Amino acid sequence: MPTKIILDCDPGHDDAIALLLAHGNPDIELLAVTTVVGNQTLEKVTRNALSVARVAGITGVPFAAGCARPLVRPIEVAPDIHGESGLDGPVLPDPVQQLDGRHAVDLIIDTIMAHEPGTVTLVPTGGLTNIAMAARKEPRIVPRVKEVVLMGGGYNVGNWSATSEFNIIIDPEAAHIVFNESWPLTMVGLDVTHQALATPEVVERIRAIGTSPSQFVVELLAFFAHTYLEAQGLDHPPVHDPCAVAQVIDPSVMTTRTVPLDVELTGTLTLGMTVADFRGPAPEGCTTKVAMQLDHEKFWNLIVDALERIGEPSV
Ligand code: BDR
Ligand code: CA
Repeated sequence: MPTKIILDCDPGHDDAIALLLAHGNPDIELLAVTTVVGNQTLEKVTRNALSVARVAGITGVPFAAGCARPLVRPIEVAPDIHGESGLDGPVLPDPVQQLDGRHAVDLIIDTIMAHEPGTVTLVPTGGLTNIAMAARKEPRIVPRVKEVVLMGGGYNVGNWSATSEFNIIIDPEAAHIVFNESWPLTMVGLDVTHQALATPEVVERIRAIGTSPSQFVVELLAFFAHTYLEAQGLDHPPVHDPCAVAQVIDPSVMTTRTVPLDVELTGTLTLGMTVADFRGPAPEGCTTKVAMQLDHEKFWNLIVDALERIGEPSV
């Protein structure tokens, strides 16, 4: 049985690849795609999500727009990494799919409540505003969720500040809510995603697939390579968000360790830091895990396989 997921995202180059992976992998059933302000404004990331749906030939999956600003703080977007559109690089086709009429928070709640308890996995790859709102609006979803596997944070390194990662620091209050709920949570953070590098060999494998979705990914990665070199001095871009989807597809793609996790809300230098307590053993009943070591080859095999299965969509 494929794993049912809701992808909550802010496309975003790596979110787009996460969406393609979720769509193209046979072990995932994509129940819904929801968008949240993050890499760009809500309006832009929502349009981007719908454009990617067209590129990938995704039909029959509801897409809904969610929160347009963080819970407490002003909006912070990431044009240095994702460009003015949030998905600069390839030409974005006009969306053909209509948005679901519901707010993303309601679509998340409705979807979880409509499925058997323990069957829906939440995969957030943006700020955690929608997920926190859903947990607060309908607390009955919390024990029904199978697990939350999110891209965000890091126990060892930051990218938006010395200690903090973008998805967490843009809405740390929301992250604090999500990390402190009782659902099982896996943090796929920078520790692992900085191993998910799109090397030239990887890009050539994707180019060789020779379809329009694979060409779209090549163009995304070219832009991403440029901005990551300029903004963060990385020789190859880290392709963060699909790591969370990959963890759901095949947990053996990365090692994890059970440790208590929390989000710093009051630090002057450390706001948004995801604090992992590695003093062992983890307390009994600890529901949080961190991802530690990525199998680079296995990870990129999943992406290539998904793109091959997507082939050349007809829409
Ligand atoms: C995260 O921030 C965003 O820019 C990416 O899409 C990813 O989700 C990496 O820090
Ligand atoms: Ca993202």
